[in-house]
Amino acid sequence: MRPEACGFRLPVRTARLFARDFVASDFDAVHAYASDPDVTRFMFFAPRTPEETRAYLERMAAAARQEPRTVWELAVIRAADGRLIGGCDLTLEQPHEADLGFIFARDVWGHGYASEIARALVRAGFEALGVVRVFATCDVDNHASARVLERAGLRREARLDRHKFARDRWWTSFLYGLRRDDWLASRVVYRQATVGDVPEMARSRASDAAAGVADPRMAAYLHGRHDPQHARAPRAGFVAVERDRIVGYIAGHLTRRYDCDGELQYLFVAAECRRRGIASELLACLFGWFREQGASRICVDVLPENGVARAFYGRYGAITLNRGWLVFPEV
Ligand SMILES: CC(C)(COP(=O)(O)OP(=O)(O)OC[C@H]1O[C@@H](n2cnc3c(N)ncnc32)[C@H](O)[C@@H]1OP(=O)(O)O)[C@@H](O)C(=O)NCCC(=O)NCCS
Repeated sequence: MRPEACGFRLPVRTARLFARDFVASDFDAVHAYASDPDVTRFMFFAPRTPEETRAYLERMAAAARQEPRTVWELAVIRAADGRLIGGCDLTLEQPHEADLGFIFARDVWGHGYASEIARALVRAGFEALGVVRVFATCDVDNHASARVLERAGLRREARLDRHKFARDRWWTSFLYGLRRDDWLASRVVYRQATVGDVPEMARSRASDAAAGVADPRMAAYLHGRHDPQHARAPRAGFVAVERDRIVGYIAGHLTRRYDCDGELQYLFVAAECRRRGIASELLACLFGWFREQGASRICVDVLPENGVARAFYGRYGAITLNRGWLVFPEV
């Protein structure tokens, strides 16, 4: 392991999920997906019997105690309702290389949970475990999994013909990988916004004709000199930085508006950087700050015609409050 590797800090948190070690009482939720033939169709293991699920949980408990630890196979919990919806793992096959995997219950497919947790694990692999490469394999017919890996930044490196014999057949898989230097070069860093960032934040937005002009009050807002209606101090902003350039930002404050605790005031991602999960990471930063402030019900003002923003907020659980406003009932 690299010298800077400081180990994994659990839970791993994203905007909607957290990943923690399995515990014995997870049995029912784990067995529900691990015994489902739809879910295990592309896994090397067949639908599990109750005994096999129990043995699996025992193996995971032992792996969590291992010193030094080499397997981080974790339960994925949906924060909104506390439900265990799947599992994910980073396994150090060799000291410097982590194998990435995930599995989710059938009824939660299609919500982007796998991409969300895969991105977080890739980051944790490089930052916390200090690996030089994250890789994954998926069956050549498992298109959904391939898309998740690509969204997490992995690239298809090879086709492994009949490389594994399991469940009475040979498997042909794609090998996906991402090297640390490539990840570092394209990595987006998220940090708290400072007032000094405002001109660049405004410029990035002004360059996007479709998004409209920059809000001239943004600097005053971040300075605390401009208060939106019903605003309470404090407020926070975060920026996404890629190769020394601000490519997105988010800001919010505490509020008394609409019986809410917090309001999301600004969110923007540069047009050429969209659909890479940047707004999702920014939202996770701001939600984390809201949680620290004890704020859980968060509102946001969205133009009725801004279908993209509505789709984005909808993915993270926002519901309609009235014509112009959405609310996240609990972050
Ligand atoms: C809304 C906005 C911030 C989203 O940023 P982004 O970085 O592209 O969002 P993400 O990549 O994190 O998207 C996460 C999910 O949101 C949904 N989503 C995002 N953009 C979408 C679009 N154009 N159409 C449908 N769904 C979309 C998808 O479910 C997406 O997941 P997927 O890519 O795995 O399918 C960005 O489009 C933007 O800056 N728009 C202009 C400014 C704006 O409208 N801000 C909001 C003001 S209230």
